[in-house]
Amino acid sequence: MASAEVFSPRTPGPARVVVLVSGSGTNLQALIDAAADPGYGAEILAVGADRDGITGLERAERAGLPVFVHRVKDFPARDAWDRELTDAVAGYRPDLVVTAGFMKILGPEFIAAFAGRIVNTHPALLPAFPGAHGVTDALAYGVKVTGCTVHLVDAGVDTGPIIAQGVVEITDADHADGGDALHERIKTVERELLVEVVGRLAREGHRIEDRKVRIPA
Ligand code: GRF
Repeated sequence: MASAEVFSPRTPGPARVVVLVSGSGTNLQALIDAAADPGYGAEILAVGADRDGITGLERAERAGLPVFVHRVKDFPARDAWDRELTDAVAGYRPDLVVTAGFMKILGPEFIAAFAGRIVNTHPALLPAFPGAHGVTDALAYGVKVTGCTVHLVDAGVDTGPIIAQGVVEITDADHADGGDALHERIKTVERELLVEVVGRLAREGHRIEDRKVRIPA
């Protein structure tokens, strides 16, 4: 049998979560709202970003959360950015890191530091349509259903073990409108799925067996 990596919830108290964002932060907001309930089992400690001036950071500040920004272009090399981001997140001693619309590929140091504990949400049904254009790539291909995937992050781009997926139908109108309305429908499903998954991981822990993510019932 393949060996299993086990991630247990912290006891006592809620799981410690750091969220990384790059944009409007509606997934972050859904997590902030869910975590307001002590029964949810997760506490958001801080929000990080790779750029300034985004609504995601405003949402964090409005919720009274500490924020930090590390822009790749401010570092001499990508590995220096990777190290700084890793240190900033590690300072919060998170049980889970959630990348919610974070549009940078995480570096090897970051992935090693939080291996098996980084949760990403992607707006397509992986392994189809990985990368930054999952919504429009699915539309262009002509698939009839797409959706979202909540998965653990590994060293590849959107290749890590899948935790949960949600399905969204594509209509003819989506082709005329270029994908904006489709992305909004996906995000409605995505927010609910992400909140559900993060809560379950926080409360129950998880293990990874042969690429399968198992969450105790
Ligand atoms: C989500 O659809 C996410 O999957 C994608 O970007 C969107 C982020 O939305 N990578 P928001 O910033 O959480 O509103």
